[in-house]
Amino acid sequence: MQNPQEVQLAVRALRAALPKNMNKIFTDGADTPPVAVVLGTGLSPLADSLLAGQEGCPGVRIPFSNITGMPLPGIDSHQGAFVLGCLGGVPVIAQQGRCHLYEGRNPAEVCMGVRVMAGFGAERLIITNAAGALNPQFTAGTLMCISDQINHTGCSPLAGPNHAAWGERFPDMSRIYDATLQELALQTAGRLDIRLERGVYIGLRGPEMESPAETRMYRQWGADAVGMSTVLEVIAARHLGLRVLGISCLTNKNLPDCMTPAPLEEILAVAARAGHDLARLLEAVITDMKAA
Ligand code: HPA
Repeated sequence: MQNPQEVQLAVRALRAALPKNMNKIFTDGADTPPVAVVLGTGLSPLADSLLAGQEGCPGVRIPFSNITGMPLPGIDSHQGAFVLGCLGGVPVIAQQGRCHLYEGRNPAEVCMGVRVMAGFGAERLIITNAAGALNPQFTAGTLMCISDQINHTGCSPLAGPNHAAWGERFPDMSRIYDATLQELALQTAGRLDIRLERGVYIGLRGPEMESPAETRMYRQWGADAVGMSTVLEVIAARHLGLRVLGISCLTNKNLPDCMTPAPLEEILAVAARAGHDLARLLEAVITDMKAA
C-alpha cells in the first residue's frame, strides 16, 4: 500500500501551488467539493475547457514536476499535470496524464494521482481511458460508460498493510461504478446526441497488445472493452469511498477472427476525434453533478 505521508506531502504541495484567487473555490469553505477527473490517452480537450476559465474561476495548470512525489508519466502521449478550473460552476481537478504498470511503475505510483485528488477533497471521480472494443456490436470512435471491471493486471493497490483512515481492509467491489452517475451520463449522452455504449472493461498490465486467443478469452469472460489502465485507480478510489464514473473511448476494434494491428498513432488519432465528444459529455455531466 502507498505511504500516506507521501500523499499528504503531495496534497500540501498542490495547495501551495494553487493561485490565491482560486483558494476560495477549492479550499476555504467551498460549497461544492471538487470533482476529480483522470484524462486518458489523447483525451485532453476537457483540460483546455478548464484552462479557458469561467467567470470568477480562472483555470490553472500545475505540472507534476512541481508536486513532491508525483511520478511523471513516461510516454509522450501523456502530459503530466493537474489542471484545475470550473465547469458550470462545479470545481474540477483533472489529472492530465497517468503512469502505467507497463512502464515498470508499481501500483502505488499508478494510483498516486487519484489518492492526491481525494486528499485534496474530491468525493467523486470521473476516470477516462482509450480502450479496444471487444464487443462486436461496438464501433471504433464511440464512447462506453463502464458498468463493471475485471482487474487482470495481477496486482492490487491495496496489497500490504491497510491504511485504515483511507478505507477498509476488504473493501466491497459489488457496485464499483456508481449507478446514479452512470444513469446521469447515459441520459446526458442521449440529450447531446452522443452515442454512449455501456459495458465491462478489462484492465491488463501490457504493454503488448492482445493475441487473438487472449481476445477471444476476454470476450468470453464478459469484457466489452480492453485497456492498460483504470482498474487499479478505481480500486484505490473505491477503497477511499469515492463515487466513480468511468468512460472509455473505444479507439479500435478487436475481433479474434480478424485481428488487425492497432498502432499507437491510430489509437491517438481516434482518441483525438472522440475526445471532443468526451469533453462535451463530461462538461454537461459535471455541470449536472451539482445535484447528483
Ligand atoms: N488493447 C489494449 N489497450 C488498448 C487498446 C487495445 O486494443 N486500444 C487502446 N488501448
